[in-house]
Amino acid sequence: DKAPLILGIETSCDETAAAVVTRGPEGRPLILSNIVFSQVEEHAAFGGVVPEIAARAHVEALDGIVRAALQDAALAVSDLAAVAATSGPGLIGALIVGAMTGKAIAGAAGLPFLAINHLEGHALTPRLTDGVAYPYLMLLASGGHTQILLVRGLGRYERWGTTIDDALGEAFDKTAKLLGLGHPGGPNVEKAAADGDARRFPLPRPMRGEKRLDFSFSGLKTAVRQAAEAAAPLAPQDVADLCAGFQAAAADSVADRVARALARFRAEFPDLEAPVLAVAGGVAANRTIRAALEAASRTAGVALVAPPLALCTDNAAMIAHAGLERFEAGLRDGLDAPVRPRWPL
Ligand code: KG4
Ligand code: ZN
Repeated sequence: DKAPLILGIETSCDETAAAVVTRGPEGRPLILSNIVFSQVEEHAAFGGVVPEIAARAHVEALDGIVRAALQDAALAVSDLAAVAATSGPGLIGALIVGAMTGKAIAGAAGLPFLAINHLEGHALTPRLTDGVAYPYLMLLASGGHTQILLVRGLGRYERWGTTIDDALGEAFDKTAKLLGLGHPGGPNVEKAAADGDARRFPLPRPMRGEKRLDFSFSGLKTAVRQAAEAAAPLAPQDVADLCAGFQAAAADSVADRVARALARFRAEFPDLEAPVLAVAGGVAANRTIRAALEAASRTAGVALVAPPLALCTDNAAMIAHAGLERFEAGLRDGLDAPVRPRWPL
């Protein structure tokens, strides 16, 4: 019998995205199309994502994006097995646009609808890109989330740690802002840090050595602000040194948390033949963070799986893929499924 074709829709934040995913040879997930329209330009002037602008931009873009995703896959709606749409967590107005569109398509075509948790999309991405088997450990580090997840199976997620204040990407963005670098800040901080001396400013390594697996970044950001104020007016070299110092401190902090999680993971699953730590979220693009994760994984005897960046950041292929796994497990949602701005995994 034919592998199900799933349309995925993602509109939880500032990316308007649609994709079609199915299974290919040997049952591996197969991305037939994957269209992402980033609203970064719309929000840049405001120094961050503006919810109302995001919702309106989704309304304008989504219809064309869905058409393009179907066209790229050379499919009609009638070929689909189900429609999956992100239903939370995220910006409520933005979520409504994608979920309502998904429901309208499903309702009109008589297809099942799947309400997908955005975090589940990220959490299952290593299965989409690398066919990683359950269970595995996951670090999700984006602008909105910083979590260590144990992924036991579909729908079986254990949150081992989370941030008690800012997300890691948010800390990068706020640091960029206070140093006068543009939004989104992560890539700008990384670029500036390349010419910097990470040891010039002594900065804290938040949570280092803590038993629980949580993160904290707001104290680090405050320490950067204080160092910046003390060094003002800032020359480009000062900014570079502050960026390098922040990035090194953040990487050390993440590596410490992840090393502790990996030890727990190894202790809980001593018989796993190929233990995996997977990463997702935009911060996975950062080479210093990535190197720290590679070192921690190597030490723990765990393979690091880092999906291509386009699938680490927000996209609809991960939503269609989560929909595919749920569809195959026999899960369905009604057209009355709510959108949930807060929806812990
Ligand atoms: O996953 P993502 O694209 O969107 C969500 O937040 O859901 O992640 C965006 C975040 C932003 O905070 C951005 O500054 C950060 O990822 N980021 C980076 C880098 N590239 C993106 N942070 C550090 N270094 C980077 N190279
Ligand atoms: Zn995300």
